[in-house]
Amino acid sequence: MLIGIPKESQAQENRVAIIPAGVPELLEAGYEVIVEQGAGDGAHFTDEEYRSSGAIIADDAESLYRQANIVVKVLAPTEEEAKLLRPESTLISIMEPWDNVPLIQNLAARSIDSFALDLVPRSTRAQSMDVLSAMAGISGYRSVLRGAMSLPRYFPMLMTAAGTIHPARVLVIGAGVAGLMAIATARRLGAVVEAYDLRPEVKEQVESLGAEFIEIKVEESDSEKSSDNNGYATAKTEAFYEAQRSQLGDCVARADLVITTAAVPGKPAPKLITRQMMQRMKRGSVIVDLAAARGGNAEGTVLNEKIELDGITLVGHVNHPSRVPVHASQLLNRNIINFIKNMTEGGRLVPNQEDEIVTATQVTRGTSIYFEPAQLNQEENA
Ligand SMILES: NC(=O)c1ccc[n+]([C@@H]2O[C@H](COP(=O)([O-])OP(=O)(O)OC[C@H]3O[C@@H](n4cnc5c(N)ncnc54)[C@H](O)[C@@H]3O)[C@@H](O)[C@H]2O)c1
Repeated sequence: MLIGIPKESQAQENRVAIIPAGVPELLEAGYEVIVEQGAGDGAHFTDEEYRSSGAIIADDAESLYRQANIVVKVLAPTEEEAKLLRPESTLISIMEPWDNVPLIQNLAARSIDSFALDLVPRSTRAQSMDVLSAMAGISGYRSVLRGAMSLPRYFPMLMTAAGTIHPARVLVIGAGVAGLMAIATARRLGAVVEAYDLRPEVKEQVESLGAEFIEIKVEESDSEKSSDNNGYATAKTEAFYEAQRSQLGDCVARADLVITTAAVPGKPAPKLITRQMMQRMKRGSVIVDLAAARGGNAEGTVLNEKIELDGITLVGHVNHPSRVPVHASQLLNRNIINFIKNMTEGGRLVPNQEDEIVTATQVTRGTSIYFEPAQLNQEENA
């Protein structure tokens, strides 16, 4: 079976799904590998490196899609790319399936098997395939660098002949994978860090990184749990978020840099910082809103823009992993190879329908849609 690695077509996407060092492992597992010319350019891997690792180089996307039995990408294919996929081929990529229902229906209509890497379960066995964690770590790290570069102040405490500089105060809202990496990075740069998450179980992790955990008491009915069975936060009522905002106000006001990462899978990001709260912050303070892709945690965040609002810099860039393309691609490569090998038997992709990793990630199989929200939509359209 021929695995195809196309060049990512989305503007400013520098990552590549498989790096040259990953090719021999796929060959050893019994596959052949074809790579689109220039696929690794953004991540500084050359065609020559792919060639000497044993891959075939395709002149363009059309030639690659025409030949590949399995297409492995970083991001979901565009409409044009989806049309190039061979009927009965397999697609493996990050798919953001909640936002890509028409694509999913199109794949099923053309009998393409597809797997969404962003649906890999949060289990111990699947940890080495977990692209969301790998990428969230990079986002957390880079959000702090981005914030530090936008801040008109030093980060660490400094005693100089010209006086003492107090350390920057950083507030991290949402202490999941990205938030914990942001805390660690901000601490390494010398900031005083506070963090908050609605899941109280992360307190210990936050404290072990040298940050202070902010405890907020919000009345919750017993039936409302702060996290679901996968460890993800659950969506809350507007009254709940209002109570959170009123208690977070002072913490936001005293921070020089706020990093927000609060997310609920498949739902708009909760609004945790209002314009009113921003007006209490010092001029020149910075908010880096990692939840911008789902509407943002801060009021006024503009996706992929850096704007000034009431004297505050609001950063809405989200594709941080693409700005660290060498290591982002290296981690994705590892995740994806583990994912493929988990379904490989004798050099062929043989998804075991009893394997939780297969069933959780399978979006389409033949003409059937397995991703439930898209399934409902398909029934409505029928
Ligand atoms: N293999 C594994 O076992 C594995 C791998 C990765 C993550 N996880 C777990 O999965 C969970 C989700 O991690 P994630 O980083 O993908 O989360 P995420 O990106 O979905 O959300 C980021 C954080 O925002 C928090 N959040 C949501 N709403 C909030 C609100 N209103 N106020 C404050 N915080 C809010 C969430 O609790 C989460 O910690 C965590 O428990 C993490 O430890 C497990």
